[in-house]
Amino acid sequence: MQHIFKQGTNSEKPVLLLLHGTGGNEHDILSLADIVDSDASVLSVRGNVLENGMPRFFKRLAEGIFDEEDLIFHTNELNAFLDKAAAEYKFDRQNIVAIGYSNGANIAASLLFHFKDALKGAILHHPMVPRRGIILPDLTGIQVFIAAGTNDPICPKQESVELQQLLEDANASVGVQWVSTGHQLTMAEVEAAKQWYEQRYS
Ligand code: MLT
Repeated sequence: MQHIFKQGTNSEKPVLLLLHGTGGNEHDILSLADIVDSDASVLSVRGNVLENGMPRFFKRLAEGIFDEEDLIFHTNELNAFLDKAAAEYKFDRQNIVAIGYSNGANIAASLLFHFKDALKGAILHHPMVPRRGIILPDLTGIQVFIAAGTNDPICPKQESVELQQLLEDANASVGVQWVSTGHQLTMAEVEAAKQWYEQRYS
């Protein structure tokens, strides 16, 4: 997968896996890693799917309706890519914390829904429930932060509540920060994510 790897100054820190939103790329959310932990290594990945020229991590049939088969295919692809990247860049595969926005948060949530140990933690900005009707792996010890908008037209409030519940039912520890905005990524929620991260990984 097309990506950027930046070696951090402290190899004990988690590797921050950056996953962009629809129409973004591996460059445009690099600044999030700088804000959350400027000492950590960064692996920023570009989604392999194009929708009218816009990169995404998996196909959708319509706004908010995912192509499940494609989602599963690309979730497996990303998980295998993380195995390969850890070997190539010599970092601990068990020490990855994802930071995803929108479509990137959805593929990160899908990693959690399908694999017990794909991620050690995840910061999900405006995520949705990636799949319904499946049994999640045991996510004991996995830390998740969700930032959700009370007026998000793409991701209704109930969707974030359901995602939190599904993750907690699988034993993940989940913190939620509500912002009174829509689907956009705000500095207030990035600062909240930074605080959440620092309480766990600093
Ligand atoms: C998605 O398709 O993953 C969500 O609708 C968010 C988006 O990318 O707009």
